[in-house]
Amino acid sequence: ASTLGASAAQTGRYYGAAIAAGRLGDATYTRILTTEFNSVTPENEMKWDATEPSQGRFTYTNGDRILNQGVAMGAKVRGHALLWHQQQPSWAQSLSGTALRNAAINHVTQVATHYKGKIYAWDVVNEAFADGGSGARRDSNLQRTGNDWIEAAFRAARAADPAAKLCYNDYNTDGVNAKSTGIYNMVRDFKSRGVPIDCVGFQSHLGTGLPGDYQANLQRFADLGVDVQITELDVAQGSNQANVYAGVTRACMAVSRCTGITVWGIRDSDSWRTGENPLLFDNSGNKKAAYTSVLNALNAG
Ligand code: G3I
Repeated sequence: ASTLGASAAQTGRYYGAAIAAGRLGDATYTRILTTEFNSVTPENEMKWDATEPSQGRFTYTNGDRILNQGVAMGAKVRGHALLWHQQQPSWAQSLSGTALRNAAINHVTQVATHYKGKIYAWDVVNEAFADGGSGARRDSNLQRTGNDWIEAAFRAARAADPAAKLCYNDYNTDGVNAKSTGIYNMVRDFKSRGVPIDCVGFQSHLGTGLPGDYQANLQRFADLGVDVQITELDVAQGSNQANVYAGVTRACMAVSRCTGITVWGIRDSDSWRTGENPLLFDNSGNKKAAYTSVLNALNAG
């Protein structure tokens, strides 16, 4: 097939992009979006600061714009993200203990209920593990409410929207390392105790190389009985960019439970990695070599 989405669909997968509500009026941006992609993720619009700017007052205007764009395209919508230590509204940052726990769980319930039946997969919890060699949880206000905050969030999300796949999402988990193994152990524990979890997101904000065990790492999670998804892919510019993109694509295609790939923006100028040109389309919206390598890898599967 001749587009990313249609090519991924040949093997039952999706190819998605993170999109920003404020860019939907840009004709080039929206043309590429609607032509190439069959999944969308809101880059910021469904986060806690955006959806509950003051406690108990929920604002879904921009989140709904992303949802409606996805629905109009017939695309899968990934929800991102119900709980995260960043982009919390200031009122939440000032809470702790039971008050924070209750506010967090209420947030999960309210937002998942608002979008009930419309979200393919939710990033229920984002980036809760520490970098480095500990394999431990990240210290955060949420973690300080008790180690069971993650499972409480997943149970609340399942109760609110039983149809959505519920994902744990993180970065620096692109090979077998202490951080990914800490997450692996949590997922294994959740599966053994019946805590609802359906998928693990690998953000894959990558440099100039791909770990040799990238595919093996995806596979070990899939073998626990969860789907895996590449959720925020972008790759440092340079001579190897197209190869890294191809390698990620091939790895996902080789893992039957890898259900899709999302790039974290459309054109280089849309990326949070300012000046790094890490995406598939250049600032003018032209296809880069990385685009062709992804398309070819999707069609080889
Ligand atoms: O909307 C305000 C605008 O009103 C204000 O004038 C401007 C001034 O700074 O800020 C704007 O908000 C910015 C927002 O993006 C929307 O553009 C925030 O400052 C900025 O911090 C925010 O950055 C986002 C970042 O998450 C926040 O941590 C990026 O767009 C977004 O791409 C990035 O995405 C994260 C994923 O959610 C999780 N994984 C890592 C990834 C990259 O950091």
